[in-house]
Amino acid sequence: MWRRLGTRKRKTVSDAAIYAPPRRIENLEECYFYHTIDLPGHGVIEGEWDLRAGVDEYLGHVPLDGRRVLEVGTANGFLCFAMEARGAEMVAYDLSDEYDWDIVPFGGGIAEDLRRERKQRIRQLNNAWWLTHRLMNSRAKVCYGTAYTIPEAIGPVDIATFGCILLHLRDPFLALQRAAALARDTIIVTDVMPGWGDPNNKLPMTFIPDPAQPQMNDSWWYLSPEQVSRFLGVLGYPHTTITYHQQPFKDGRVPLYTVVGSVAP
Ligand SMILES: C[S@@+](CC[C@H](N)C(=O)[O-])C[C@H]1O[C@@H](n2cnc3c(N)ncnc32)[C@H](O)[C@@H]1O
Repeated sequence: MWRRLGTRKRKTVSDAAIYAPPRRIENLEECYFYHTIDLPGHGVIEGEWDLRAGVDEYLGHVPLDGRRVLEVGTANGFLCFAMEARGAEMVAYDLSDEYDWDIVPFGGGIAEDLRRERKQRIRQLNNAWWLTHRLMNSRAKVCYGTAYTIPEAIGPVDIATFGCILLHLRDPFLALQRAAALARDTIIVTDVMPGWGDPNNKLPMTFIPDPAQPQMNDSWWYLSPEQVSRFLGVLGYPHTTITYHQQPFKDGRVPLYTVVGSVAP
């Protein structure tokens, strides 16, 4: 029978082989802040999303103290450092500029300049994570790769989180499956409500790319919370709760949901 890590023997791999070496970042100009963050010595840096008042809602009010957490899609790390401040031992995960975003191949291919621009943006995101990491004296580790290749060598975690990343993945179920190999207790998925763009959308899964809007090339799926619950049930987290909330994004607020899937009730 298949079992998660933690009950299974695994090879010991050195931290240096898994986690990224620290980057010394000095300048804000080298960084891109996706989240608004209060950066020691710099004050408030404005990002697209301001989750400062909504962290616990965003993470489904799951207790984090003393838990080992894998955060898939850490971006500039606002949630990573917020979870660490709540007592979690953090392993952050994201792309680096060595990996490609799942860009939608409008017209059947992906232009080289688009791939390059996306990688530059990811490098700036990673830089913002490292600058914040240093200024906050964080002990979090970060591992780079695609969500489809999360290394088992990270070892068991108690919780894995997927904050607004599944909509950007061509294969969201495979990414959840990879995290499920590591997460002993709980997977938390936060994503945008499918009705955000279209209030009449009640479909479980909607394919976002539209040939009439090729500029929308970074997103694949609107997933309903019920669909995410079903994914989690299939992967062995049958006890799910769904909560709804709104968070500030640019000049408005975006309706979101959080599904907390657990192995045990
Ligand atoms: C929209 S941001 C969400 C950031 C944060 N988790 C949150 O909830 O606010 C999506 C994050 O997922 C990462 N990401 C996108 N595609 C990815 C992939 N294929 N593999 C790993 N990470 C990916 C992006 O680099 C970015 O950091």
